[in-house]
Amino acid sequence: MKIGIDKIGFATSQYVLKMKDLAEARHVDPEKYSKGLMLDAISITPITEDIVTLAATASQEILDDNDKATIDMVILATESSIDQSKAASIYVHHLLDIQPFARSIEMKEACYSATAALDYAKLHVGMHPQSKVLVIASDIARYGIASSGEPTQGAGSIAMLVKADPRILILNHDNLAQTRDIMDFWRPNYSSTPCVNGIFSTKQYLDSLMTTWQEYQLKNKVSLKDFSAFCLHIPFPKLALKGLTKIMDSSLTHEQKDKLQEAFDTSIIYSKQVGNIYTGSLYLSLLSLLENSRALKAGDKIGMFSYGSGAVSEIFSLELVPGYHNMLKENRFDSLANRKVLSVAEYEELFYEEPNLDSFGNASFKDYLSGAYCLTAINQHQRIYQKNDKS
Ligand code: CAA
Repeated sequence: MKIGIDKIGFATSQYVLKMKDLAEARHVDPEKYSKGLMLDAISITPITEDIVTLAATASQEILDDNDKATIDMVILATESSIDQSKAASIYVHHLLDIQPFARSIEMKEACYSATAALDYAKLHVGMHPQSKVLVIASDIARYGIASSGEPTQGAGSIAMLVKADPRILILNHDNLAQTRDIMDFWRPNYSSTPCVNGIFSTKQYLDSLMTTWQEYQLKNKVSLKDFSAFCLHIPFPKLALKGLTKIMDSSLTHEQKDKLQEAFDTSIIYSKQVGNIYTGSLYLSLLSLLENSRALKAGDKIGMFSYGSGAVSEIFSLELVPGYHNMLKENRFDSLANRKVLSVAEYEELFYEEPNLDSFGNASFKDYLSGAYCLTAINQHQRIYQKNDKS
C-alpha cells in the first residue's frame, strides 16, 4: 500500500520584520544577514497568535468536510508549547470541528518531532487503511533581543494530511535516525527563550547530517545520484546550503550537481522570507520546492534531512505522485508579500508583550491582524480562541 502526503498547507503571521531594518538597528552590515545567513525577512507574531492559531489556519487551508469526518488522529509537533499538560492538537481538533472519535496528541523533540509524527501517521494508516491523519508542525522561534540568534527567528505552521493513495508524495520506507545527547540548543521550562551554543549547534547539525547520510546510504544502498532534490532542516538557509555542499561528492556529474543546487535554491524561497519555524522548517522547504520548481516530475525521489537539537536527526525519502501539482496552491508568494511590515521598535514591542493577567487569571488583548483563527482572551487561565470573521 502507498501511504503519504495527500494535502499540505501553510500559515504564518501577518507581520514581518525586514532583515535590512534589523541590521541597521543592531549596527550590523546588512550583508551579514542577506549573504552570511541568506535571510531577507522573518515573520513576527503578536500575542494573539500562537501555535494553535497558526496550526488551525494552516489546517483549514487544506481540509474539507469529508476529511474532517474521516481524520482519526491529530498530531501536533512543536517546541513552543502553550501548556505543559494539554495537547495543542485538542484545541485544533475542536476549532476545525473534526469528528470526535479521534486521538489528539502533541510531540516534542526540538525541530525534529514532525518527522517522527509523519512516520507514526504512516504506520497508523498502514494498520488502518481508511484512516486519515492530520500531522501539524507549528512553532514560534524566539531568541533574545540583540542575541546572535535574533535574526534567525520566525513563525509558522505546516499542516499535512497523511492517507493511503496520496495525491502529492509517497512516504518511502527507508528512514534512518540518529540520537546523540548534546547541549547545543535547549529551553528550560522557566525560560521563554532558548539557551544556545550557536557555533557548536551548527557543527552538530553538519556532523549529524554527514554521519546519518553515510549510514542511510549503506542501509538503503543508494547514493545522491538517485535523488532529484534534497530538502534540509533550515534554521537559516546558509546552514542548509553548507549541508548540501558537504554531501555533494565528486561522484556526481556537473549536471547532477547543478540539478540539486537548482532544487535547493527553490527550496529556500519561502524560508528566506519567513525565517526559522523549527518543526515546520524542513516541510516549509519541501513546500517551497513543490510550489516553485518547474523541473520536478512524477516519480522523482526527494531526500529529507530532519534535525532537532539535543539531538535527533533523520533522513528519509519521498516520491512524487503523478498530478501532484494539482494539489498545490498558487500565488503563495503574494500572501507573504502582503504581510504588514514592522519597524524594529514595533517588533520589540510585540516581542516583550505578555498577558496582563488579573488575580482571577483573566486577560484581554489589543486587536491584531491574524489568519483564520486568533487568541482573543484568557479567561480563568483558559485560552479562548475564535474564528476570524474575515477569513
Ligand atoms: N557579509 C557577509 N557575510 C558575513 C558578514 C558580512 N559583513 N559578516 C559575517 N558574515 C557571515 C559569517 O562569515 C558567517 O558565515 P560562514 O559561517 O559561512 O562563515 C555568517 O555570516 C554568520 O556569522 P558568524 O559566524 O559571525 O555567526 P553569528 O554570531 O552571526 O551567529 C549563529 C550565527 C551562531 C548560527 C546564530 O545565528 C545562532 O545562534 N542561531 C541560532 C542557533 C541555530 O540556528 N543553530 C543552527 C543549528 S541548531 C538547529 O538546526 C536547530 C534549530 O533550528 C535551532
